[in-house]
Amino acid sequence: MAVVITVAQQKGGAGKTTLAANLAAALAETKRVALLDIDPQRSLTRWHAMRSERRSKPMEIGFSDVSGWRLGNELDRFRRHYDVLIVDSPPHIETDARVAVRGADLVLVPVQPSPPDLWAAEGTLKLATDEKRPVRLVLNRAPASGKLRSGVEAEIVRHGYPMLATALGNRTGFAGAFAIGLGVTETSPRSTAAQELRALLAEIEAVLR
Ligand SMILES: Nc1ncnc2c1ncn2[C@@H]1O[C@H](COP(=O)(O)OP(=O)(O)OP(=O)(O)O)[C@@H](O)[C@H]1O
Ligand SMILES: [Mg+2]
Repeated sequence: MAVVITVAQQKGGAGKTTLAANLAAALAETKRVALLDIDPQRSLTRWHAMRSERRSKPMEIGFSDVSGWRLGNELDRFRRHYDVLIVDSPPHIETDARVAVRGADLVLVPVQPSPPDLWAAEGTLKLATDEKRPVRLVLNRAPASGKLRSGVEAEIVRHGYPMLATALGNRTGFAGAFAIGLGVTETSPRSTAAQELRALLAEIEAVLR
């Protein structure tokens, strides 16, 4: 039976789709992984289509661009055939995102280190808490140091919000890999971006254990 990871954050552009795609690509090395795209923008669907059309075939990732209201059934259908299901959700916390959070064994909330991103994350954190789903913030596009990062981190600690220790930096490799249907662990396995992604994945696996 698969575990379900939902990537959710009502703030647009926080890095949900990038995170979902890169986690799936890295996990696909060792596990049967499927992605479910419930965001009508369909960015992840296009990423997966590019991946499938590549001449040198990368590791296979299952896929469904199901609409939010059918997600529950689709999760049940996919669960038997995969080890991990990753759901990419739209930038709001209305019905579809709610369904995605409800079905999750772990909810990941990417936040860029700025106050509005953190404020937006509060809605998703509350939603996950209401649904009694384990949830973790993931700091994304974070500078290695500096006031903005330390300020947001202090705020996260002050509120007691659960956060993974590994942050993803602001790295062009993420956009570059996404543009060709791959993850950073595939395009540049020894890059800092890939190392961060693997460290994040190890933390996620520890939470799910
Ligand atoms: N760690 C990162 N380093 C550099 N660029 C990043 C990083 N994470 C995301 N981006 C870039 O930020 C932009 C938004 O990312 P993405 O589409 O993943 O966000 P999203 O939360 O899915 O957006 P939406 O809410 O519209 O679905 C993209 O151009 C992506 O390449
Ligand atoms: Mg997206």
